[in-house]
Amino acid sequence: MMLRSVVMQDADMLLTWRNDQETRKASHSTAEVGRDEHMAWLRRKLTNPACRLFIAEENGVPVGTIRADLVEDVWELSWTTAPEVRGQGIATRMAVLLACLIAEPIGAEVKVDNLASARIAERAGMTFERETGGILHYRRAALAKSGVLAHLLEK
Ligand SMILES: CC(C)(COP(=O)(O)OP(=O)(O)OC[C@H]1O[C@@H](n2cnc3c(N)ncnc32)[C@H](O)[C@@H]1OP(=O)(O)O)[C@@H](O)C(=O)NCCC(=O)NCCS
Repeated sequence: MMLRSVVMQDADMLLTWRNDQETRKASHSTAEVGRDEHMAWLRRKLTNPACRLFIAEENGVPVGTIRADLVEDVWELSWTTAPEVRGQGIATRMAVLLACLIAEPIGAEVKVDNLASARIAERAGMTFERETGGILHYRRAALAKSGVLAHLLEK
């Protein structure tokens, strides 16, 4: 798997994934997103230095997306796997990969019924901190700078 940055040409694919029923159910805002709203959102995200947006590719095929938003010194991660390739470990690989590349603290917010994403957060090294209003908050502390590699090599 490799992660590459999102570009505006990915907009239609991302909108399809965003409006998938499961993705809407798992999102803070469950309404279907219109194209104009999506394009404006994507433009804002791509120009915001506190946001990193990636497409995960396997054998050159886009299989999912993962985002990191810097909120009060914590990179909040959120992920979506392409609907046709779910259940194959892709979200786990995306989250583990990005978590290893970020030395700063990371977190994730997962709806209580999203068992797969709770598992993914744990697999990416985060631990459950608290629940507020049906949202599980996961967090991993900063890695020591040298810890980024050490974390990968850990036995
Ligand atoms: C949730 C989602 C990201 C999972 O993606 P995926 O690529 O299918 O996930 P994985 O195959 O890596 O599975 C992750 C783990 O969850 C488990 N899992 C998968 N579906 C599950 C389910 N319905 N219930 C319980 N566990 C489940 C898997 O067995 C795996 O656990 P394991 O590592 O112990 O085997 C995907 O379904 C999706 O994009 N959903 C819509 C968007 C979304 O929910 N985003 C997350 C918002 S926080």
